[in-house]
Amino acid sequence: MSETKKLYIRTYGCQMNVYDSERMAEALGGSGYTEVSSPEEADMILLNTCHIREKAAEKVYSELGRLRSLKNEKPELKIGVAGCVAQAEGAEIMARQPLVDLVVGPQSYHRLPDMEARTRRGEKVLETEFPEDDKFETLKTRGPKARRAPAAFLTVQEGCDKFCAFCVVPYTRGAEVSRPADRILAEARDLVSRGVREITLLGQNVNAYHGSGPDGRDWGLARLVRSLAEIDDLKRIRFTTSHPNDMEDDLIAAHGDCDKLMPYLHLPVQSGSNRILKRMNRSHDRDSYLRLIERIRAARPDIAMSGDFIVGFPEETDADFQATLDLVREVNYATAFTFKYSTRPGTPAAERSGQVPPEVAAERLGALQALLAEQQQAFMQGMVGREVGVLFEKAGRHPGQMVGKSDYLHAVHVHGPALKEGDLRRVRITSAGPNSLAGELV
Ligand code: SAH
Ligand code: SF4
Ligand code: F3S
Repeated sequence: MSETKKLYIRTYGCQMNVYDSERMAEALGGSGYTEVSSPEEADMILLNTCHIREKAAEKVYSELGRLRSLKNEKPELKIGVAGCVAQAEGAEIMARQPLVDLVVGPQSYHRLPDMEARTRRGEKVLETEFPEDDKFETLKTRGPKARRAPAAFLTVQEGCDKFCAFCVVPYTRGAEVSRPADRILAEARDLVSRGVREITLLGQNVNAYHGSGPDGRDWGLARLVRSLAEIDDLKRIRFTTSHPNDMEDDLIAAHGDCDKLMPYLHLPVQSGSNRILKRMNRSHDRDSYLRLIERIRAARPDIAMSGDFIVGFPEETDADFQATLDLVREVNYATAFTFKYSTRPGTPAAERSGQVPPEVAAERLGALQALLAEQQQAFMQGMVGREVGVLFEKAGRHPGQMVGKSDYLHAVHVHGPALKEGDLRRVRITSAGPNSLAGELV
């Protein structure tokens, strides 16, 4: 075998998987792997999977089906399954899919180099425990000093203790764990030294972050954000995903007084019906959510609100769904993500009666999406004539054009031949399209 081996990673699911894939590539970098962009070239293929809805989980099996011919042509190719499907169904995958050499759950990525070596000796390796050792501490620090794109993810917290009745995350990612603040600060400084100007702090429940601070005290997310804001060349900070019950006062205040914290907040509510919220075990109700948004807007009036919604949860009636539409009208979202309820084995809701017929769920999804699309369009139209910060990330399709992200996370196209990747500039928005804005430098 050649000296450098080639690794192909396909990532599904949430941003935490995107971050994990980067870290896995770095961990295997120590075993001589470099990343490639097509599975055909690879000596090892990793599927970093998502289990959140049935469709997401099914993708793994169809992808494995497609990889069979590659493995037939190249028997020394190693195929691994990582991520949340690995955690939930790893043993089953291993038993049913002989082409899989390696199954690794999200808490064991630091063991990958050793696992890879074992597969080279012909072993099949399965690692889905929740080990005591902290994977972040043992994962190699980010490899050689490569330049990075201007915007990066940084996981600060993992796992979930909330146990919403529909959700697999508490089972696939385990209990809430926060990384120590000094390690996060060191990683952030390293990212910034490689050209990163914006960091999005990640966690399944990122605002439940409570890590030990360098002063030996417990740091909440607000304290961490304020400390990151002291890194000069770090220009923007975001965080996702938040739970309404963990929006503490100091975090709300930070939205008002920390200039680097961007005016955008993803705050899933799932439903506007108290009856359904209770059955979902969300532990907040409609009013507490609305009051919370009032307080956030009092601190930062221009904040762009985003949310997640599930339609067709068991026993959801038309009246419950109308309550969701009402809540959406009351909040007025800048953007949102909508899902049809998907039954997940092992979750409490999977056992319930009163499943909503698929055609009813589809109709509700359509109505909710139409309302949210109207709000999103209105928000984007409202940007026209305004001045916003834009962090430029890449060249646009037309000569001399650059594309970046606004403070509110909109894609913005600007003509500016002198602009470089990583520039943060003031831009006046001149027009709004369906998915992006255009503007000119001020
Ligand atoms: N930790 C975050 C996000 C979890 S997963 C939070 O609590 O908000 C992202 C979104 O997927 C959820 O907000 C929810 O809207 C959706 N989701 C989770 N489980 C689902 C299921 N079984 N069916 C449909 N959507 C689901
Ligand atoms: Fe899932 Fe609820 Fe935890 Fe979010 S808060 S990850 S929806 S259990
Ligand atoms: Fe999916 Fe796991 Fe993320 S189930 S949404 S990849 S935490």
